[in-house]
Amino acid sequence: MDMDTADMTDTVNLREELEAVGIEEILTQLDRELIGLAPVKTRIREIASLLLIERIRKRLNLTSEVPTLHMSFTGNPGTGKTTVALRIASILHRLGFVRRGQVVSVTRDELVGQYIGHTAPKTKEVLKKAMGGVLFIDEAYYLHRPDNERDYGQEAIEILLQVMESQREDLVVILAGYGDRMDKFFASNPGFRSRIAHHIDFPDYSEPELLAIAELMLGDMNYKFSADAREAFIRYIALRKTQPLFSNARSIRNALDRMRLRQANRLVADLDRVLTADDIMSLEASDVLASRVFLKDRSTVRSAEQARDR
Ligand SMILES: Nc1ncnc2c1ncn2[C@@H]1O[C@H](COP(=O)(O)OP(=O)(O)OP(=O)(O)O)[C@@H](O)[C@H]1O
Ligand SMILES: [Mg+2]
Repeated sequence: MDMDTADMTDTVNLREELEAVGIEEILTQLDRELIGLAPVKTRIREIASLLLIERIRKRLNLTSEVPTLHMSFTGNPGTGKTTVALRIASILHRLGFVRRGQVVSVTRDELVGQYIGHTAPKTKEVLKKAMGGVLFIDEAYYLHRPDNERDYGQEAIEILLQVMESQREDLVVILAGYGDRMDKFFASNPGFRSRIAHHIDFPDYSEPELLAIAELMLGDMNYKFSADAREAFIRYIALRKTQPLFSNARSIRNALDRMRLRQANRLVADLDRVLTADDIMSLEASDVLASRVFLKDRSTVRSAEQARDR
């Protein structure tokens, strides 16, 4: 078939198109494997739809400009930014938007050199690796140091801005970081703001979401909470959230690692015991309650008891 524009009688079966690229599979997997994040998931669906239509338009010779897909992800640590970037990369790849679909994750140190003349080659090397996929720049605002006039970060920024414009059919840049700092960064770097099509905000997880994330992670590792351990972990989450350096799902993963350690220790302490698979899979309340997170809580209980005893 040889034609410049689409024949108006051409028909398109969207369902078949969707199935052909297997995108629905990735999207339902995303729904299943990531707890919460409803606005993020909606946004990804929208982007996937746009790309699907774009793909069909291309086939029908309905040419248009390549859509800009550079994004910014704002949110606190452990809210799923890196995880979502990986999923988006595979969607972009399936839809043929990028050739390879890899994610190259960097921070300032990998882009900016210490000495004059070192920055451009460093940035270009990273861009070469990322081409055909996603370049994920974590804590992007560190690229810009307003207090230092001769900061090499500016050189990296200029190269990035240029490539984001000229190579946008084969490279998607995602800038990530805390919301307030990203806002400031965009305010002083309008070039970035105007090149970014999608600003996606990652909210902190609620306590029930954190529990669901824990149970999902445990299931993946063939572990589970006993009923008591689950109750204890609900208390753990409530306490941990109020303590310093809490980082959402990442803190949950770390907590589970330590609980597995305590469980193993507990099991090994009694070598005469005959264990079932269930014993080996189960985290018990004691594995949870031994956490330092309860220390303060315990001391309050203790002083309350002491007060009562007195
Ligand atoms: N919604 C979720 N459902 C299930 N697991 C999640 C969810 N969000 C994050 N995780 C898990 O939590 C961990 C941390 O997530 P991730 O690294 O994506 O966060 P991040 O926002 O990139 O954090 P940081 O800012 O610290 O880099 C990962 O192991 C990830 O699999
Ligand atoms: Mg991350």
